[in-house]
Amino acid sequence: MLRARFSVPLDQAALELSESTEEDLALLLADLWGSRAHARMLGETGLIPLRSAQRIDRELARLEVAAARQVVRLDPVLEDVHMNVETLLGKRIGKDAARLHTGRSRNDQVATDLVVWLREALLDLEGAALDVADALIASARAPHGQGSVPGWTHLQPAQRVRWAQILGTHALRFVRDANRLCRIRETLQECPLGSGALAGSSLPLDRERTAHLLGFQRPSLSSMDSVADRDAMVETLGALALLAVHESGLAEELVLGSMPEIQRVRLADAFVTSSSLMPHKRNPDLAELLRGEAGPAIGRLTAHLALLKGLPLAYNRDLQIGKPLLFDGVDRALRSLRVLAPMVATAEFHVPPPLATADASTESVEIVDGLVLQGVPFREAHSRVGSLVARLARDGRSLRDLSPSRWRKEFPELPHSFRLPTAQEAPDRRTTAGGSGRESIVALLREIDRRSRELRRGARTERRRLIACHELLERPIRRNLRRRR
Ligand code: ARG
Repeated sequence: MLRARFSVPLDQAALELSESTEEDLALLLADLWGSRAHARMLGETGLIPLRSAQRIDRELARLEVAAARQVVRLDPVLEDVHMNVETLLGKRIGKDAARLHTGRSRNDQVATDLVVWLREALLDLEGAALDVADALIASARAPHGQGSVPGWTHLQPAQRVRWAQILGTHALRFVRDANRLCRIRETLQECPLGSGALAGSSLPLDRERTAHLLGFQRPSLSSMDSVADRDAMVETLGALALLAVHESGLAEELVLGSMPEIQRVRLADAFVTSSSLMPHKRNPDLAELLRGEAGPAIGRLTAHLALLKGLPLAYNRDLQIGKPLLFDGVDRALRSLRVLAPMVATAEFHVPPPLATADASTESVEIVDGLVLQGVPFREAHSRVGSLVARLARDGRSLRDLSPSRWRKEFPELPHSFRLPTAQEAPDRRTTAGGSGRESIVALLREIDRRSRELRRGARTERRRLIACHELLERPIRRNLRRRR
């Protein structure tokens, strides 16, 4: 390919290292959209004959249909998606195809393809993250959301909280993830096309026109930046690494909760596996895989950053290695989220029987707070309850086992009306804003729901805008010499 300058073909092993057709298939539709916009602009400005532009566009539109049906194969000998499209076009329409690359380089082409591709990938990711958030909210609002379980710090029983708060808190993280992805998408407003290899073009290209046809607000500011900039790819991998970390935290709670020793989660049969050896097993393999995905997700971010480190301006071939990192990152994230959402939706969240050990006395703070309200200094109250728990622990008992007389003897300051809240009552005692009380939980779920719906509305509008933009290509191509700059 493109070897008029040389007398020998590219070495076979060199070709195998450098060709990117397997990953480039992901860019095919974006590449075709970019090429159609470019050809139209060339025809309108008179840089190529109108007939050539029309012929090129007609054939590219056919290729788009075939690409959407996933029947286009890329030939590795042609190195990348860009040369494949140009070659396919040449086979179908002959010499007109040779005019398509006027004023363009594969460097601005791949940069354009990547942002066009990424916009839609981000929309898919946002939706998938919100599906998980919505599944969590639905479970939080279901009857099992009312169940009160020991909340953990250091994985030790700490204070009673409702499932609704645990699930709602995980949902909050996924809504933040969707928001982060949306903010990245909103930065993709500038079109790299027309930047050429690095320095723009001496041909009178109309960059505003191609930017508009591709759904961007304006052409990019520096041709050198356009061909070298991979910031949005790295930001996406960063957002996906954090998303995967959130998934892994939730997955771990599902794995732990499924242990018969803990008994607080029951995953649906569709999301567990058995053992090839032990027929009784009910393994949370899928949750474990979701936990594990965070490793490579973090790796892809660091791999991409390392790839960029020290690269001089402008285009360098190293950049090509970033593409599969991005494509895999998005693909693995979508697959994971599409498992996590139904896994959460079908899981049961239980209240395990209380543990009769002093270390699990999640009521200790209630007594401390009761004493503080009677004027006992906090540190004194804390230490009295602590030493009582230690004494009970020696006899294998817990705070709940105290008789009323022992109770009065230990804490004479507490009013007669004082009694330990039941497990079900305890979360509602904490009425601070954002705490475990009922009102805060209702507010939490309502706010997550609102944010989720707002993000979905924005994503729907953007999808419609992109479709409308692509439909501009259905209009006949006309000469418009005013477009010539
Ligand atoms: N396949 C290349 C990439 O993905 C496209 C640009 C190649 N440019 C070049 N001058 N070799 O980055």
